[in-house]
Amino acid sequence: MERRRELFGGRSAAIFALAGSAIGLGNIWRFPYMVGQTGGAAFIIIYLVCCLLLSLPIFLAEAIIGHRTQAGTFGAMEQLAPGTKWKWLGLLTVVSPLIILSYYSVVGGWSIGYLWQSLTSGFHASELGSVSSAFGNFIASPGRALFCHTLFLSGCAAIVSAGVKSGIERFNKFSMPLLFVLIVVIMVYSLMLPGSSAGVEYLVKPDFSKITPSGVAAAMGQSFFSLSLGVGTILTYSSYIHSKENILVMGLGTVGFDLLFALIAGFAIMPAVFAAGIEPGAGPGLIFETLPYIFAHMGASAPWLSAVVAVLFFVTIVFAAFTSAISMFEVGVAYLVEQRGLTRHRATLLIFLGTWILGALCSLSFGPLSDVKLFGLSIFSFCDMLTSNFLMTFGGLLFVLFVGWKMDRKVVRDEFTCGGTARFNGVVFDAFWFLLRYIAPPAIVIIFLTNFFV
Ligand code: PFF
Repeated sequence: MERRRELFGGRSAAIFALAGSAIGLGNIWRFPYMVGQTGGAAFIIIYLVCCLLLSLPIFLAEAIIGHRTQAGTFGAMEQLAPGTKWKWLGLLTVVSPLIILSYYSVVGGWSIGYLWQSLTSGFHASELGSVSSAFGNFIASPGRALFCHTLFLSGCAAIVSAGVKSGIERFNKFSMPLLFVLIVVIMVYSLMLPGSSAGVEYLVKPDFSKITPSGVAAAMGQSFFSLSLGVGTILTYSSYIHSKENILVMGLGTVGFDLLFALIAGFAIMPAVFAAGIEPGAGPGLIFETLPYIFAHMGASAPWLSAVVAVLFFVTIVFAAFTSAISMFEVGVAYLVEQRGLTRHRATLLIFLGTWILGALCSLSFGPLSDVKLFGLSIFSFCDMLTSNFLMTFGGLLFVLFVGWKMDRKVVRDEFTCGGTARFNGVVFDAFWFLLRYIAPPAIVIIFLTNFFV
C-alpha cells in the first residue's frame, strides 16, 4: 500500500540524517583504538582509501536503490525485481537493523545510566578495578539496566513516531552540530592534560610495518560498520531524499563527516587515556570503565572541570547512540507503514515492543540469563556476532550484487548522474561501476572471512 511519503527538507537535512546514522559508538569506542594498534597515521590513510574505494561505492549502491524507488527496503526490492527472490533481501534488511537496535539500545541505556551518574554523584573510584566492578554490577542489575534500556528505546520511539521531518530530521539537525561542538570541547580539554602528547603520538605516528593484510581487512570492516552499510538504513534514509538531490554528494558528505568525527573522537579520548597512564583498549570497557576512571583521576586536581567534561562526554555518547538507533528503528517503521498499512504510531509501537523484548533478553544476559548460551555465546554477544559478522556483510554483498549485476546499467547511471545533469557523469560513473562490480564483492567476502576466522 503506497501512501504519500514525507521527504527530508533539503540537502543538509539529508546529510545530517545519514551522518547521524553513521556516527555512533563505532566512531568512539573502536576507531581510535584501531588507529593506535594498527599503524597510526598509516592506518588513517588506509582507512580513508577503504572508505573511498570500497565503502562509498557500497553506500551509493544502497542509496541508489532507495533514492530510485522512494520506498523502504522491502518495497524497493519488490519494485525493482518484482516477484523474485530479491524480496528476501528486502525482508532480511528489515530484520537485521532491528536485531542491532535491540542490543544497541541496551548500550544506549548504559550511557543514559552513566550520564545520570555523571550529573548526580560523579565518578570517584581511585582504582580502575573498582570502576570495572561498578560497571559489572550496573549491567548485571536487571532493574537499573532494564529501566535505562526502556528509557533509551522510548526516546527513539518518540522521535521516530513524530515523523521523518518533524522527528528524525529535526532531531538530527539539532544533534549533529551539537555532537561536533561537544567532541571538539572534550578534545581541547584532553589535549591540555599533562602527559597527553603520548596519546597524540599513538594516533599519528605512522608505522607502515603494522599495515598487514589483516590490518587492511580490519580497516575495511570498520569503514563498513561505521557507515552503517548492509542493513537498509542508508537505503531507507535515501528514499526520503528529494529526487533532484545528487547522491554522490550525499555519500561524500556522509563519509567526510563520519571520518572527521572519528578522528576528533580519537584526539578527544586517547590523549586523556595516556595522560592517566592507562593502556588503551576498545569496546564498552573504554567508555564505561577507562573513561570514568580517568574522570575520577583528573577530578583530584580540578574537580569541577572534570565533572563538567564527564557530563559532556556522556551527553555525546547518548546523542551519538540516539542518532544511529533512530535510523535502524525507521527501517522497521517504514516497512510496517508502507507494506502493512499501519499508521506510523502503531508501527512505532510494534517495533518498540519487539525490540524492547529482544533488548531485554540481551540486557538480562549480563545478569539472570547469563547461563543461557547460543552457540557458546551470551544472548547479547550472539546478537552482536550474528549482525556485525554475518548479516551486515551478507546484506551489503547482496545490495552490491543487485545494483552491479542485476540492475540495468542505464538506470544506475541515470540515478548516479541525476538524469545525466551532473557534471561528473562520464569518468566518475565508470570508476564507480568498476569498483561496484569487481572490487566491492570480493572485498566484502574478505571482510566476512576475517570477521569469522581472524
Ligand atoms: N554506524 C554506527 C556506528 O558506527 O556506531 C553503527 C550502526 C548504525 C550500524 C546503524 C548499523 C546501522 F544500521
